[in-house]
Amino acid sequence: MRAPREPFRIKMVEPVRLTTRAEREEALARAGWNLFQVAARDVELDLLTDSGTGAMSQTQWAALMLGDESYAGSQSFERFRETVKDVLGFPFVVPAHQGRGAEGVFFGAVIDPGEIVPSNAHFDTTRAHIEIRGGVALDLPVPEALDPALDAPFKGNMDVERLVELLDGEDGDTVSIVMLTITNNAGGGQPVSLANIREVAAVTRERGKKLVLDIARFAENAWFVREREAGYGKTPLGEIVHEMMADADAVLMSAKKDAIANIGGFVAVGEDEEFFHRLQARGVVSEGFPTYGGLAGRDLEVIAVGLREVLEESYLRYRIQQVAYVGHLLVEAGASVVEPVGGHAVYVDAGATVPHIPAEQFPGWALACSLYLAGGVRGAEIGSVMAGRDPLTGENRHPPLELVRLAVPRRVYTSRQLEQAGDAMAATLADAESLGGFEMVEEAPVLRHFTAKLAPLDKRLTPA
Ligand code: F0G
Repeated sequence: MRAPREPFRIKMVEPVRLTTRAEREEALARAGWNLFQVAARDVELDLLTDSGTGAMSQTQWAALMLGDESYAGSQSFERFRETVKDVLGFPFVVPAHQGRGAEGVFFGAVIDPGEIVPSNAHFDTTRAHIEIRGGVALDLPVPEALDPALDAPFKGNMDVERLVELLDGEDGDTVSIVMLTITNNAGGGQPVSLANIREVAAVTRERGKKLVLDIARFAENAWFVREREAGYGKTPLGEIVHEMMADADAVLMSAKKDAIANIGGFVAVGEDEEFFHRLQARGVVSEGFPTYGGLAGRDLEVIAVGLREVLEESYLRYRIQQVAYVGHLLVEAGASVVEPVGGHAVYVDAGATVPHIPAEQFPGWALACSLYLAGGVRGAEIGSVMAGRDPLTGENRHPPLELVRLAVPRRVYTSRQLEQAGDAMAATLADAESLGGFEMVEEAPVLRHFTAKLAPLDKRLTPA
């Protein structure tokens, strides 16, 4: 597989500081062996997230200058609202400072304690917003989603049978919202098919519930629908997007992903104007006046341009191929990855890649640290460290898969730079047996992965 050609030229450059292995060893030890605590200037290839890390286009930079910073009724808001309506089909929109701001506005208005919110898989912040309001965030992925080696086209789908069981069972009355996250980040960046969206929508609507989509990566999902779903091979991407949105009552968006903005988000709703006014009222309290919602006018301009650019054929083809290319390089280097490669990230199956490290010794964490030491590459563990402890027993939780996510920022790295991820993996696996596990030294009670300090069990690695 060859690297895809970049459909752009580089007009402005940001230097990358090249580091030596000795410098990285020192930086990582100083950071308590936690990549979240490593300074960005000590990272050469930063694949921690694709969120807010994209490069803006010349059109977005130009739009920035059109920002109307009026407190109320700014022209930038008008342009933003028109774009949301045009691209996504929703007439009513509440801007928010980022995706979780939109989640706060939305769930603040709809959730009752004890209410169950089913989804194909909730992202962590969505789950947190449901749980802090006393709700229950329930994941209902299709069974294929749990087999990392299985190559299936729509592993992001929801298990409709289990949804029906829930809705028609004794807890059915507690449900008012059914969610789909497209693409499914927690499940490997896997797409959801249009057929699944329609089926879920029908089941939801028949029972008088609302369907809500988390559309952070809607364009990437649309691309996969066109590539993989029968009958859509020639459908324009914009039409596929409209079909994806057609049955939803509301959408939640983090503009830091598929609006290629560095900040921003929104909630958009269809016909229900009364519901929209309730959301607006919530938004004013936490995000800001309804025509800026925690953002500057210039941010709204950037999002409006990004929502259209992200659906450009040449961009999206390159985007999906570049992520697939990273997956290909990692497999060539000997890693096992979640198949097929997702839209925004490659999820390395650390449990299968370094099987000699038991879950108790955090294999994903060990692999992520090694990629950093070998090549200055920063990824994120999604495994036993991130899973935290059981609140009742205090024991470490071990999820079914120990993963390392390498998320690719949009339009930021050339394919040559991304090859460093493959090289770092090859260097790690050339001597895989010598890679040891980790022990937990210090941790916070919640979201411990951000601040925890760990130590390698191989004491040769700890500077004297
Ligand atoms: N929904 C999904 C599917 C996400 O992936 C994220 C963020 C959010 C909501 C929250 O949006 O960050 O703008 O508040 N995902 C990032 C990631 C952080 O790295 O996957 P936010």
